[in-house]
Amino acid sequence: MNNPLPFRKHSLFPNQVHGNLVVPPFCPPERYVALDTESFAPRPDDVVVATFSKSGTTWLQNMLYNLVGCPNGPICKINETVPWLQSVSASLEEIERMKGPRVFKTHDYWSWLPQKLRDTARFIYCTRNPKDQAVSYFHHIKTLGSIYGDGCANITFSEYFEQIYTNKDVAEFGLWEDHNVEWLKESPRDNILFVTYEDLKEDSEKQIRRMVEFLGLPNDEDRIVETLTQSGFEHMQNSDNLNYSWLTGGLKSGFIRKGEVGGWVEYLNEEQSAYFDTPIDKVVQAGGRVRCTLDE
Ligand code: A3P
Repeated sequence: MNNPLPFRKHSLFPNQVHGNLVVPPFCPPERYVALDTESFAPRPDDVVVATFSKSGTTWLQNMLYNLVGCPNGPICKINETVPWLQSVSASLEEIERMKGPRVFKTHDYWSWLPQKLRDTARFIYCTRNPKDQAVSYFHHIKTLGSIYGDGCANITFSEYFEQIYTNKDVAEFGLWEDHNVEWLKESPRDNILFVTYEDLKEDSEKQIRRMVEFLGLPNDEDRIVETLTQSGFEHMQNSDNLNYSWLTGGLKSGFIRKGEVGGWVEYLNEEQSAYFDTPIDKVVQAGGRVRCTLDE
């Protein structure tokens, strides 16, 4: 079968650096090098949202930026106000000029991050069950054909599944379980808080309060209520700045698509669902919390 996913054409890191995993072309090796130089100075009040892709990153970027009091004004494009550290969409000069607390996004493995950042910042790692993540990523690559290639627009779910999970090295940032396990190994550290998409969905306020406590923010009830309003699904879906509308020529990008737990049942057949037993087991063994439905 032809490979309809042209990920291999994207920038591949040298083996010795990142295990030959694929990262998006806008996260070039030069940026990783620059982050390790004095051009990037982490601050103790920096907050980093860390995720495997399609696990609620944008939701948390928005939530945390509101929770820390929108220090750089109202959100313009989310990827400018809350930059993806490894992406060239925000320059390191712009990042340096930002008022704190700065909020960043990363999809990196823990071991890829600059040591000075790991030692200085606070991290919120959000995971999502891999079945819903898989469905979300399927829609992501279909909608963002301009980035992933025209071949992706008409790909079926089973073609996608075969490419990602049979040729295990084609998906950006590798495998869900490897990413999760690597972060979970760091759970004894006191500068990482682990949250799940499903828990956020079930009770956003409870998780917001956990984050407030973890970050040592004041218990400002008005701010918590405002954060809940600003991070509501419909509000986010209707916001061009949060829904990456600019990526799809003004149309809704699908970044804020369905926002459900358990939607995977409409996509995965029994065999595809069973594929995830081993990855889930690995993550649970490493201490992770995985809920494929809200009943679990
Ligand atoms: P779906 O594609 O399943 O709808 P990321 O930001 O890491 O790319 O994750 C995108 C996923 O998070 C999408 O999932 C999106 O709908 C969901 N999401 C974004 N904002 C949300 C919100 N406020 N509430 C619930 N889900 C949200």
